[in-house]
Amino acid sequence: MLELENVVKRFGRVTAVDGVSLQLRSGVVGLIGHNGAGKTTLMQMIATLVRPSAGSIRFQGQDIVARPDAIRRRLGYLPQDFGVYPNLSAREFMQYFAALKGVRDPARIRHLLELVNLHEHAERPAAGFSGGMRRRLGIAQALLNDPDILVVDEPTAGLDPEERVRFRNLLAELGLHKLVIMSTHIVSDVESIASELAIMKGGRLIDCVQPETLLAQARGQVWQASVDAAEYEALRARVHVLQTQRLGAQLQLRIAHPEQPCAGAAPAEPSLEEALMARRYALAEQAA
Ligand SMILES: Nc1ncnc2c1ncn2[C@@H]1O[C@H](COP(=O)(O)OP(=O)(O)OP(=O)(O)O)[C@@H](O)[C@H]1O
Ligand SMILES: [Mg+2]
Repeated sequence: MLELENVVKRFGRVTAVDGVSLQLRSGVVGLIGHNGAGKTTLMQMIATLVRPSAGSIRFQGQDIVARPDAIRRRLGYLPQDFGVYPNLSAREFMQYFAALKGVRDPARIRHLLELVNLHEHAERPAAGFSGGMRRRLGIAQALLNDPDILVVDEPTAGLDPEERVRFRNLLAELGLHKLVIMSTHIVSDVESIASELAIMKGGRLIDCVQPETLLAQARGQVWQASVDAAEYEALRARVHVLQTQRLGAQLQLRIAHPEQPCAGAAPAEPSLEEALMARRYALAEQAA
């Protein structure tokens, strides 16, 4: 459905995206990477807002760099720095974007405001909306044209835990029938909903893996142990400590290690974040 081949974007001397190849179908794709990894630039190229310096992007077989209209009509986009117009109510905001996008059906606006759970606030000016409500309005606007591809850039940044869960459920639901590409640096935000994780670093796609595969690989590599301060110091020098939590005089550790790291350590069920870290350590050690 969406195929990227060797996509490069340079801004002067900075290579923001460095030879990314990817093939995506429906489902939720979690685009993960630290600040400056190139997530936004990659998404802007898919959204045809930025032209690649090299490489090709195809949507349903059509070259979207040469013919951006091929994807624009089928795309919904929520930018990272999405802003609402504070004086417009949620409904007015949607009416404005519906007019821009040539969507004429007023029932569509009602339906989308219900979908993102803003219908009870439809007449309120967006100035009084929380961060989560603004993002949900952003998603509603991105869905006006019933897109096949939804690109959402850091949609959960700044949301409280409850809003985060609600948002995650909404994206999971949308991912049943669409391709949803969502960037984040919080792995737990895409845990349980992503069908694929695409991991970027320094403009490169360093890994593309299904969460189930990642978790299966990490089983037997993640451990928990309870140690005192002296044991901790010795252990820290030779294993990867994923997490430390103090409990009285003891430290509860989560550790990534190919075999039992110390006496008394028990195998633990890895979280997705831990599985990713364990994989990175294992790959780095293989390379060294
Ligand atoms: N318009 C631009 N001009 C110059 N450099 C840019 C431009 N846009 C992005 N860059 C650079 O490209 C690199 C990738 O930036 P990008 O915004 O794509 O990363 P990101 O993964 O989205 O980061 P964040 O997590 O902070 O949103 C960074 O080094 C950034 O400074
Ligand atoms: Mg970004």
